[in-house]
Amino acid sequence: MNAPLPQRVRLVEVGPRDGLQNEQQPISVADKVRLVDDLSAAGLEHIEVGSFVSPKWVPQMAGSHEVFAGIARRPGVTYAALTPNLKGLEAALQSGADEVAVFASASEAFSQKNINCSIAESLQRFVPVLETAQRHGVRVRGYVSCVLGCPYEGEVAPQAVASVARELHAMGCHEISLGDTIGVGTAGATRHLFEVVGRDLPRDQLAGHFHDTYGQALANIYASLLEGIAVFDASVAGLGGCPYAAGASGNVASEDVLYLLNGLGIHTGVDLDRLLTAGQRICQVLGRENGSRVARARFAGPR
Ligand code: HMG
Ligand code: MG
Repeated sequence: MNAPLPQRVRLVEVGPRDGLQNEQQPISVADKVRLVDDLSAAGLEHIEVGSFVSPKWVPQMAGSHEVFAGIARRPGVTYAALTPNLKGLEAALQSGADEVAVFASASEAFSQKNINCSIAESLQRFVPVLETAQRHGVRVRGYVSCVLGCPYEGEVAPQAVASVARELHAMGCHEISLGDTIGVGTAGATRHLFEVVGRDLPRDQLAGHFHDTYGQALANIYASLLEGIAVFDASVAGLGGCPYAAGASGNVASEDVLYLLNGLGIHTGVDLDRLLTAGQRICQVLGRENGSRVARARFAGPR
């Protein structure tokens, strides 16, 4: 189908989590807090602040509690955290996370590498997480990883993605984000994927999460828009990667997604100049080149 393009898109900013989790160098709590505050000042209404996972597995996220404690909360902004199990959920609740996310994989091998259990075990583990979160009035988002390819298994069938997405939805996840963890997907495969998953689940409860390893993320987002998808995850300055997906590059840069959406006249509520400033600042902290093409063009000098 060619759905009419949405008038409004919600951007889920995952830079402080998906972006920074992959950084080996120490990053101070103050720098993380400033990043989150810069992002909310830019108008982002949904920010993944950190994750409550084992510090042995992802050391960079160990300070997530302190980051939550330090941010200046803006009304109307959802400050979210990733939680793989009940222990993580309890920590997220103590930190005052507005929303949490559980993460499963469409590929068995990636599930083992990322969260040390099978897909079925992970889904079982999420049941009490969902129950407890719901008791506390906290919404739960569900991620499915490796939806367009797996670093260990190669091709992943859309039906395998649909099956995991259905289970997450059935247990109460209010939104399911389909993650191209290693950024290998193309526009045709993306459309097909949403077409298959969208047979069983409402499209307004699906989101796209594209890493940009092969430079296809913007094309994949456009393809998703044509399938009626209106929520996209992105990372400021294109930060990130996945510790358990060697070679995977960062998420698509939030600035570049915003530039695309602005060009289509799609409302997001996000200010590009402020977002660019947020991206430049964190790149200076990290001492790395900005991964956003829009930022590189804007800061290259006068046009
Ligand atoms: P495990 O070793 O099987 O778990 O890890 P365990 O229950 O045996 O616990 C081992 C140790 O971790 C114990 O400590 C636990 O207390 C501790 P010890 O007794 O040895 O001192 N522990 C925790 N500590 C803090 N917070 C917790 C927690 N849970 C256990 N929540 C586990 C299983 C799931 C914990 C581990 O594999 C893990 O933390 N994995 C996280 C991996 C991760 O964060 N990956 C990146 C995020 S996913 C992603 O990036 C993809 C996404 O962006 C979408 C896409 O791109 O596709 C979302
Ligand atoms: Mg990711």
